[in-house]
Parts: sequence; C-alpha cells; structure tokens
Amino acid sequence: MTTDWSAGYMAEISYTHGFYRELTPSILNFAALLSGHRAPTPLTYCELGCGQGYSSNLLAAAYPEIQFHATDFNPAQVVGARDLAAEAGSDNITFYEDSFAEFLARTDLPDFDIISLHGIYSWVSDQHRAEIVEFIRRRLRPGGLVYISYNTLPGWAAAMPLRRLMVEGAGMAAGQSIMGRIDQALSLAESVSAVNGRFFSTSPGMVDRLERIKGQPRAYVAHEYFNQHWTPFYHGDVAAEMAKAKLNWISSAHLLDRLDAINLSPEQQQILAQIGDVTRQETLRDFMVNQQFRRDIFVKGAVRLPTGALRVLWDAQRFMLSVDRTKAAMTVSGALGEASLQEEVYVPLMEALELGTPSFAELMAQPALAALGVQRLQQALMVLVGAGYAQLVLPEAGADVRHRRCRAFNDAVIRRSLWSSELQYLISPIYGSAMVMDQVSQLFLLARAEGAADAPAFAWDVLSRNGQRLLRDGKALLEDADNLAELREKFMAFQSGALPLLRRAGII
Ligand SMILES: C[S@@+](CC[C@H](N)C(=O)[O-])C[C@H]1O[C@@H](n2cnc3c(N)ncnc32)[C@H](O)[C@@H]1O
Repeated sequence: MTTDWSAGYMAEISYTHGFYRELTPSILNFAALLSGHRAPTPLTYCELGCGQGYSSNLLAAAYPEIQFHATDFNPAQVVGARDLAAEAGSDNITFYEDSFAEFLARTDLPDFDIISLHGIYSWVSDQHRAEIVEFIRRRLRPGGLVYISYNTLPGWAAAMPLRRLMVEGAGMAAGQSIMGRIDQALSLAESVSAVNGRFFSTSPGMVDRLERIKGQPRAYVAHEYFNQHWTPFYHGDVAAEMAKAKLNWISSAHLLDRLDAINLSPEQQQILAQIGDVTRQETLRDFMVNQQFRRDIFVKGAVRLPTGALRVLWDAQRFMLSVDRTKAAMTVSGALGEASLQEEVYVPLMEALELGTPSFAELMAQPALAALGVQRLQQALMVLVGAGYAQLVLPEAGADVRHRRCRAFNDAVIRRSLWSSELQYLISPIYGSAMVMDQVSQLFLLARAEGAADAPAFAWDVLSRNGQRLLRDGKALLEDADNLAELREKFMAFQSGALPLLRRAGII
C-alpha cells in the first residue's frame, strides 16, 4: 500500500534508528582536509530525508554551535525525532515534516554550510531527485559541503534481478501487510533458487546474498528493496546532476576508500592515474572495486588550499584512540581484502593516542613519529580514523556546553532503555561522534546513575517486566536464574570493555 503523500516511498513501516558517522561535521571537514580543500566552519546543517532523525539528534547534542534543520515527510518518524529532542532539551535542532518539494518552497530556512542525505538518492523518483538538486542549488552556501550516498553501479548490476524477483514475489501478496509481502518475496526467491533457477546457478553470490537479506531487519529490507523507485547510479551520472547545483566532487566520506593500497592493485592504479578527468576517474574506479554503495562529498566552489595553509589546519587537529589498543584487530579492509597495519608505524602512534588527545603538531614533536615523515603520519591517522580506531577531537572552545548537552541527550537515550532497545548509540562530547551501546549496557549505565548496588539485578528487573529474555547461542533463556547469570557475565565484560571507553569518550 502506498499513500498519496509518500509518492511510492515505503511508508507502512518506520525506518531503523541508525547513526552514520559520515554525516558527522568533523569527518566531512577532515575528508575535505585530506583532499586538500577548504571546508567551512559549519554553523548551519541540513539533513534531507532524516528518517528517525537519530543521527541529526545525536549530532545536535555534540555541536551546540550549529543550527540543525532536518526533514522527513513521514510524520510518525518526525514525531519520534521531535520527542527525543524535547526530552534531551536540544534547542538547536528543528524537525520538519516536509516533503522535499515543500522544504524547497520554504522561505524561513537559513542557507546551509552542510547539506547531507544518506540512503535517499537511489530510492526516490526523478522528480524528487530534481527537487533535491534544486534545494542544494538554492540553499547551500558557496564553500558548503554536500554529503550524499547512493547505490552504485557496477556493483549492484549483478543483484538487480534479485531485487526484481523479490518485487514480483511481493506483488503476489498484494493487499497484505508489508511483512506478509516481504515473506512472500523471500519465499518466491527461495523457491526459484531451490529449483536451480539458472539466474541463481549462473550468478555467483546470489544464494548467499538472499541468505543475508533473510537475516536483515525487516524495516531495513522494506526500505531498501520495496520502494517503487530504486535506482543504482554510476558516479558520473550523480556528479552530472550535482554539477547543476554547481558542485564538484572532492572525496569519499568513507575515509578508507581514499587508501589505494587496500583497494587497488598497482596495475589498476596505473590505469586510473592516466585518466585526467576526476569524474571519469572515480567512475572507472568503481569498475576496479565493483563499488555497490558510494558515500560522496561534493563542494560548492572547490578551493584548493596551499600546502602551508593545510599544514596549519593539520597541526591544530587533535586525535584520540577510541578502542582498546590491546584488543584492536590491527587490520583494515578494502576491496583487495584485509590488510595488516604495519606495527612499526601503528603501535607507537596508537600508544601516543592512548595517552591523551595530542594534536598533529604534538605528534610531530615526538621523534619516533616525526621519523615517519609528515605524509606517512597523516596517512596513518587517516587510516585509524577511517577504521574507527581513532577519533577527531573537537576543539576545546565550547567544551562545557558540549558536555552538558551530550549528558542530557545520553540521559534521555538511556531512560528509553527502560522500555525499548531501539536507540543504540550514545554521543561523545569529546569527539562529537557516536558510540554503539546496546540496551543491556544502557541499563547498566542507568543502574550506575541511579546508584543501584546490583546492576545485573536492576537490568533483569527491567527486562523481565518488559517480557524480554536474553539469548544464549541464539536461544531465548526461559529461567530467571539463567537470565540473571547471563547478565552477570555481560556486566563483567561491560566493566572491563565498554566502561573505560565510555570514560575516555567523556560519556560518563
Ligand atoms: C532509507 S530512509 C533513510 C533515512 C535516514 N537518512 C537514514 O539513513 O537513517 C529514506 C527516508 O527518506 C524519506 N523520504 C523519501 N522520500 C521523501 C520525500 N519526497 N520527502 C521527504 N522525505 C522523503 C523517507 O520517509 C525515509 O525516512
């Protein structure tokens, strides 16, 4: 069922409450720095199609100096987003229940330094994409950044028929709820696979892919596959649409995409190096890595900074480690597979980032790190930030307000853990990005805040009243004693694992 206002977009089931770190202002500015470009000091931020608004809500708490404006035409999602902002006392975020066309027609919006849209562009009609481009053309300040993600070709090409097969299956259950239609879609696809439909036997990976889809949350599957509009794009085609808003591509927001060594063989790099045009180069790069999903940053008015100016920005940037170094995998993944981090570079660097929040200038003042040279050190920092091992520390100015606001926001999230497991991220006032935290861990934090002597017993009291049960080896534990024992184990792991990281992130 579609409704008049949803224009074919899936509105029967609300989207998941995700957080995507590529939306973070500091990550976007860092990516601009890495590509040698000037980036704005953002004061206004707009998210188009914000879904549940959780990302914008988290970011508004960590960046109180920025005015956030976020829109989504699904009223149920906007209600939830506004409630959370109100519970957290966030006064720098406004949620709109506008379609892109309505948002475009508004005269009460500021111009924006950053406009972001995650998981939108491939899932809306030509007309809505044109509205988005026009909004960016009118509302993005010169020098402003756009973050945009989309399903990409050629990576999606092989699986496009699988999506179509599922849509055919859903059509056989027309009139049923979205859950019934998804079940029918998966069952049709499975039956075609079971009788060795040659699409499956001649398309490598499709059986596994179908298995993966079966394991994904239904709310995600509904929004990913069952919209009326669903278009993967070549990068060059998106770049051409963005050019109408005077935008140029500057970087991937997924920082590890920038590291050729883990994504491209030397021969592939050589072919790409011969291509002068950056749009064509990126489009061909997607053929080298068989890109399925791009996370692009475009700028309105690309200004390259001279090396000296870039170095000033680098010198001031502080970094910190946000993982336990002794447990970190010390590998990163790219299109070529998994690569080990060189110990002689990464061990001393991670040790330095574990002790405090050193700036690049301070790192360069350490002889062992200075010996690596500026470029290698910068690349290593990019890798650590890209892999989520290290974080970009926010400036000292405004830290008091930031801490107060993040505390209020995190308290609001944690209070929700009393009856819901939907919100699974807390925001760090130190690095302005989110840390994943499940409901049980949040209940331990709540027990701590309320001075409960026995945190596992506190958590079990809440969960059992909600009728929730813990799982062991995928099976629900039925007895109270087993649930409590499981919670005690989880609490031990929480104390030695998450608690020190929460402290380091300034969340507690
Ligand atoms: C796949 S979800 C992504 C949500 C969010 N950006 C995220 O990543 O969690 C796409 C969102 O776009 C919204 N949307 C689709 N078409 C829209 C339109 N024409 N105007 C406003 N919002 C729209 C939907 O309601 C939905 O919440």
